[in-house]
Amino acid sequence: METLQLFLSILLLLLLLSTSSLAQNPKCSDRDQESTLEVLHIYSPCSPFRPSSPSLSWEESILQMQHEDQARLQFLSSLVAGKSVVPVASGRQIVQSPTYILRAKIGTPPQTLLMAMDTSNDAAWVPCSGCVGCPSSAAFDSAKSTTYRNVACKSPQCSQVSNPTCGGGACLFNMTYGSSTLAANLSRDTFTLASDPIPNYTFGCIQKATGSSVPPQGLLGLGRGPLSLLSQTQDLYKSTFSYCLPSFKSPGFSGSLRLGPTAQPLRIKFTPLLRNPRRPSLYYANLVAIRVGRKIVDIPPGALAFNPTTGGGTIFDSGTVFTRLVEPAYVAVRNEFRRRVGRNLTVTSLGGFDTCYSVPIVAPTMTFMFSGMNLTLPADNLLIHSTAGSITCLALAASPGDFNSVLNVIANMQQQNHRVLYDVPNSRLGVARELCT
Ligand SMILES: *[C@@H]1O[C@H](CO)[C@@H](O)[C@H](O)[C@H]1NC(C)=O
Ligand SMILES: *[C@@H]1O[C@H](CO)[C@@H](O)[C@H](O)[C@H]1NC(C)=O
Ligand SMILES: *[C@@H]1O[C@H](CO)[C@@H](O)[C@H](O)[C@H]1NC(C)=O
Ligand SMILES: *[C@@H]1O[C@H](CO)[C@@H](O)[C@H](O)[C@H]1NC(C)=O
Ligand SMILES: *[C@@H]1O[C@H](CO)[C@@H](O)[C@H](O)[C@H]1NC(C)=O
Repeated sequence: METLQLFLSILLLLLLLSTSSLAQNPKCSDRDQESTLEVLHIYSPCSPFRPSSPSLSWEESILQMQHEDQARLQFLSSLVAGKSVVPVASGRQIVQSPTYILRAKIGTPPQTLLMAMDTSNDAAWVPCSGCVGCPSSAAFDSAKSTTYRNVACKSPQCSQVSNPTCGGGACLFNMTYGSSTLAANLSRDTFTLASDPIPNYTFGCIQKATGSSVPPQGLLGLGRGPLSLLSQTQDLYKSTFSYCLPSFKSPGFSGSLRLGPTAQPLRIKFTPLLRNPRRPSLYYANLVAIRVGRKIVDIPPGALAFNPTTGGGTIFDSGTVFTRLVEPAYVAVRNEFRRRVGRNLTVTSLGGFDTCYSVPIVAPTMTFMFSGMNLTLPADNLLIHSTAGSITCLALAASPGDFNSVLNVIANMQQQNHRVLYDVPNSRLGVARELCT
C-alpha cells in the first residue's frame, strides 16, 4: 500500500514537472548533467539575449560581427604576459559581445547566471547586485548567499589580479575588458557547474562598470592562467575540457562543454598544444600549411610560424567569430580559393569579406594542416550565405594590420560542429567532427 502511494506521488510529481516545463519551451530547460554543460549561441531561441525582433539585416549583422571581431583581435593582440590592458582609441566604441553562453549556479542557495564562455580569458567575473553601470539583465546577490566571502588582501589570490587594492581588508581590483573598465571585489563562493559543486571558487564581483563591453551576466574564463577555471579545479577536472559549438543557423542551437577527462571522445585527431610565453593564457597550435582543394597554398614561412618572441602563431579561440590569418597567408589562401571557384566569376566584397559571389558557387574544401592533424572544413564552416541566398562569402579575413597583429585565430564559425578537446596535462589539442546542433 505504501509503495503504491509512493508510486502515485512520484507519478503526480512527474506530471507536474512535465506540465510546468512544457509551459515554457521544453528545449530551453536546464539540461546540464554530470560534468557536461549546455552551450548556447546568444542568438539561440533559448537565449534571453536574442534580439526579440531581428532589427538588423543580414548584411548589417555580418558587419556588426566583424566589427566586434576587430575589437576581439585587438584584445587578443594586447594580451602580453602579465598585463591585458587594451589601448582604446579615443572616441571609438569597442564592443565585445559574447558568442556562446552557459549556465553557472553561484552561491548557496544557487543563483543561475548565463555566463559568456571564453577560452582566451582567465578569470571569472559577474555583475553583482548594486553594481553601478552593469547591464541590467541579471546580477548575483551576494547578500542572499550563505557561502559568499570577500577574499582577504593578504591571500595569495589577491596578488594574481591586475591592480589590486585593499578596502577594509577586502581585495579589490580594476581591469579593462573591451572598452569597459571594471571595478570588482575579489570574492569566493560555491560555483555549481552542471552537477559539480566547486566550493570557494574565486571570482570578481563587479561593483562598478563603464562602457558597453561587459557580458550581460558575466564571463567564465577557460584560459590557463592562475585564476582560471582550469587552475581552480585541477583536482576535479585535471585541466581537461572539450566543447562542441552549435551553428547559429540551426534551430537546435545547443552544444556542450564537457569538463574533465572522463567521457571525452576516443576517436579524435591530436596536434601538440603549445604555450607561448608572450601570451601564456592562449591556446596555441602549430599550423604548418593550408590546402585549398588538393593544392597546398604557397604561404611565406614566417606567416604561420610559432614565435615565442613576438607571440606570433595560431590560436584556437571561442570568442572570435571569423577565422583570421595574417595578411600574406590570407591573400595566398583567398587567391587559390578564387581560382578554384572560377576565374571568370565576379568577386564582390561585403564589409571585411573580400571574396563574395552573387551567383551559386561550388567551393573547394579547405584543410588546415597542423602538426600531426589535418583539419578539413566542410563548406558549412567556410561560407556564409545571405538569408535570401543571393550572396555567398568566404568567411575568412586577414588579421587587421593596424595593430601589428602576428596572430592567426581559428575562430568559432570554423569550429562549429566539431568537438575541440583541450588536454593541457598531455599538451595536446584534439578535433573531431561532431554534429551538435
Ligand atoms: C566589496 O568591498 C567593499 C570594501 O571592502 C565592501 O564595503 C563591500 O561590502 C564589498 N561588497 C561585496 C558585495 O562583497
Ligand atoms: C578602481 O576603480 C574605482 C571605481 O571606478 C576607483 O575609485 C579606483 O580609484 C580605481 N582604483 C585603481 C587602483 O585604479
Ligand atoms: C572554503 O574556505 C573556508 C575559509 O577559507 C574554509 O574554512 C573551508 O574549509 C573551505 N572549504 C572547502 C571545501 O575548501
Ligand atoms: C572565361 O572567359 C573567357 C572569355 O569569355 C573564355 O574564353 C574562357 O573559356 C572562360 N573560362 C572559364 C574557365 O570558364
Ligand atoms: C595531411 O595531408 C597531407 C597531404 O596533403 C599528408 O601528406 C599528411 O600526411 C597528412 N597528415 C596527417 C597527419 O594525416
